[in-house]
Amino acid sequence: MKLSKYKCRGAFIATVLAAALRLGLSVFIKEEVFMPNQPDAVPTLLIIGTAKGGTTDLFEQLTAGIVNLDPSRPDPPFPQKPSKEPGLLSRGGVDASEMLPKRPQYIEYLRLLSHPCSEATKGSFHECMATNATKQYTLDATPTYFFSAVAPQYLRQFSSLSKIIMMIRDPVERAEVLYRHFVLAEGQWPDQSIDDLATDFFKAIHTEEGVVPALQRAASCSYGDVVCLADSWRDISGFTFMDSLENKLFAAGLYRYALAVWRYHYFKPGRVLVVDSHAFFERRVDAMEKVIRFLYGRPMLHSERMLAASGGVWRKVVVTSLPKLTLSPPVRQQLSEFYEQHVMQGLFRMLSDMRDEGAWMFGFDGEPWNECPGFKEFNAARKSKL
Ligand SMILES: *[C@@H]1O[C@H](CO)[C@@H](O)[C@H](O)[C@H]1NC(C)=O
Repeated sequence: MKLSKYKCRGAFIATVLAAALRLGLSVFIKEEVFMPNQPDAVPTLLIIGTAKGGTTDLFEQLTAGIVNLDPSRPDPPFPQKPSKEPGLLSRGGVDASEMLPKRPQYIEYLRLLSHPCSEATKGSFHECMATNATKQYTLDATPTYFFSAVAPQYLRQFSSLSKIIMMIRDPVERAEVLYRHFVLAEGQWPDQSIDDLATDFFKAIHTEEGVVPALQRAASCSYGDVVCLADSWRDISGFTFMDSLENKLFAAGLYRYALAVWRYHYFKPGRVLVVDSHAFFERRVDAMEKVIRFLYGRPMLHSERMLAASGGVWRKVVVTSLPKLTLSPPVRQQLSEFYEQHVMQGLFRMLSDMRDEGAWMFGFDGEPWNECPGFKEFNAARKSKL
């Protein structure tokens, strides 16, 4: 499969890092710190995206019986056969005026997560949380959460200390593979090629009043201005064009804006791990070693290592050469330029800032990111116990 190429031109410089590197000084980053899992973190862990970024495979790696029920596992297990995508936090109908979740919604969420206290009566609920909640971990792997502007705020009302994993895949490739998934696995868009959908997406941006200025505003936020980026995404995701699956297919690739909302409202030091999907696909054992340390604060068990080493990363959709499933060179170019402006230009600045804020990182040290501004500085920084 052809990776889209980003020229990543432009003048982004991580000033301090670049200056220090020129002087030959080592740049130190903080050590990644394990944070204990809180009994009232519901769920314990969320995998918030991105679709086609490896979320299903990661979910399997964490919940498969061979690791989950391993007698030598020191941590509480996940429920057996949990549903992967409860989706409650980004469900339609949740708006700012009803941001405070009501008890029935909380209980419904516990049920969707197969939480040990979901069946507790009102009278025994607190006792159950004190005694039984710690006996099991819970996991919500809904890969559309990351681009929901309400999900992080809604989650904060339920649980302020859950851990989060975000997987990031090249945005052009992500859109293409997700389109294939919808066509081949779900029978969507029998008469529309991916070129048709991309062309309609760009039309929709220019048709709905206010979208172009909102995108321009987002692009002109300074890279480190989380509030500006988060506000911009809140505006963009409020437009009607974001209601259609077709447009979301492309708009959800705008990680840099969408994650700003999570950074602003939810992320906590030591409780966020950002995973490069491409590195996960190629080096799953290394990736899982990091995930296990992030999640449990320990080395991998034998069973976890065996599972991560066996088979390739599970992907639902086979690669195909049907022309409608592949972007034509001009449309690919148009999408690449769109993402280059809105994502790639500031991506490594975002990753560096998040790392400074205590997020864990895996990958982002090779293709397809190596031409992006800030790549070298990001990867040259060394770990220390500052
Ligand atoms: C805790 O779990 C046990 C066994 O699963 C159950 O019998 C007990 O009623 C639960 N306690 C509460 C307070 O719900």
